[in-house]
Amino acid sequence: MFARIAPGYDRANTVLSWGMHHRWRRRAVAFCQPPKSGSVLDVATGTGDLAFEFRRAVGSKGHVVGVDFCAPMIERARAKSRRSGLNVEFLEGDALNLPWPDGTFDVASIAFGVRNVDDPKRCLDEMARVVRPGGRVLVLEFGQPEGLLSLPYKGYSRLVLPVVGGIVTGQKGAYDYLRRTAAAFPSGDRFADIMESTGRFCDVRVVELSGGIAYLYLGVVGDGLTRRAPARAGPRGAASRSASAAGVRRARAAAGT
Ligand SMILES: C[S@@+](CC[C@H](N)C(=O)[O-])C[C@H]1O[C@@H](n2cnc3c(N)ncnc32)[C@H](O)[C@@H]1O
Repeated sequence: MFARIAPGYDRANTVLSWGMHHRWRRRAVAFCQPPKSGSVLDVATGTGDLAFEFRRAVGSKGHVVGVDFCAPMIERARAKSRRSGLNVEFLEGDALNLPWPDGTFDVASIAFGVRNVDDPKRCLDEMARVVRPGGRVLVLEFGQPEGLLSLPYKGYSRLVLPVVGGIVTGQKGAYDYLRRTAAAFPSGDRFADIMESTGRFCDVRVVELSGGIAYLYLGVVGDGLTRRAPARAGPRGAASRSASAAGVRRARAAAGT
């Protein structure tokens, strides 16, 4: 499916999100604060847009790698790298079996990809494994907005998204599938629970973007000594949850989008 949508993927992203996805990616990198000259792995990188944002942030002495199992996506990412002069290494590979030793990177990221892998928890575990202790795992993924936005967003994603996605890429079925996976995938605190359940993170933060259309999740990788079951402190959905013996903390912040 991803091979079929690859040729029109960038155009569809821009049309369907009204250009917002670029803002979300910039916001994601700013939230993550990768070290200057640091190393970043972007998993399920697709055509590489998040990897390019990280490249700008880490500077010319940094190293950014994008990995995806879909060859046509990777080919497009490489072509964009050549055209833009933003030097990112793009490789074919599986998010569930990353071919790097433990602690290789400062940051691992994934944008709109974690809901598409067969085993999201394993993907998070793999991402955390290849990041050094104290490094970060960043996830950008769709949510399901609530309140006033809920109904218009549901209508837009059910009626407009598959039709426009179909016109732009010629693959209406694929955009219907992507909409359904986004609607069913856990978001907000429920996704943060999955991150915590890996036992890999000593801190998980959640940021809502554009009224809950998308979310950012940032996990700080623990040193392995504090690996344990998820912490439960305070009521679900609380603005900020903290306190557990090991100091796991989850904070939710409004994003300026
Ligand atoms: C919706 S696209 C997102 C692409 C890109 N990250 C972005 O932000 O636009 C999902 C991507 O996940 C990739 N993908 C899904 N499962 C994967 C896996 N197990 N290993 C590597 N890539 C995978 C697909 O090939 C596709 O490029």
